Amino acid sequence: MELQYFGHSTFLFTNSQKQNIIIDPYLNANPLSPVKSNQVKADYIILTHAHSDHMADALTIADRHKTTIICVSELASIISKSGFRTHPLQIGGAFRFDFGRVKFVPAFHGSSTMNGVYAGLAAGAVFTVEGKTIYHCGDTGIFGDMKLIGEIDKIDILLIPIGGNYTMDIDDAVRAVTMINPELAIPMHYNTFDLIKCDPQEFIDRIATNGFQGKVMKPGEKLNIP
Ligand code: NI
Ligand code: MN
Repeated sequence: MELQYFGHSTFLFTNSQKQNIIIDPYLNANPLSPVKSNQVKADYIILTHAHSDHMADALTIADRHKTTIICVSELASIISKSGFRTHPLQIGGAFRFDFGRVKFVPAFHGSSTMNGVYAGLAAGAVFTVEGKTIYHCGDTGIFGDMKLIGEIDKIDILLIPIGGNYTMDIDDAVRAVTMINPELAIPMHYNTFDLIKCDPQEFIDRIATNGFQGKVMKPGEKLNIP
């Protein structure tokens, strides 16, 4: 599997069947992203919540016939009115798609569309691609059940917000890594805006002190996961 980061909370997973799974696509207005939405194709789009820095380009990337958008049911019913294919999940629920399983877990955050319409609960996503289990926390503060999430599924790759203000900061993210116990932690949701500026290397160094491996991905960087 190949993993590519576009800055903020946007990640693209490509499996050996060449299926593209993109999570929280924020490209055109994302000052960090080296690509625009017309350069990306998706078989599946996972949305953790409806804020514009997460679903901004979902509907421009999505093909009404070929793309399935996986999101909570309130958001799914909003999106499906425009003719898009959606799969509604709720927190605690999981479904096996042809690429792998996706489960939604809690995230302490809000969710509304760009028009201010309530869009259900914000979520985190625990999903598998080619035998690897990925936990994308979405936007969230730290919470004690992160330990439970890490116990229920052995997390290979943790995608975790560190920028503060809207989500956990580095202090809380370092502690969350200890609770979740992942093989590899990749920071996200930082340096896109002034309010979430921080040094991701500080996060990597501090989790290393606790015995955890981390990696800062540059926007556009690809990582091969064997
Ligand atoms: Ni948000
Ligand atoms: Mn956000």
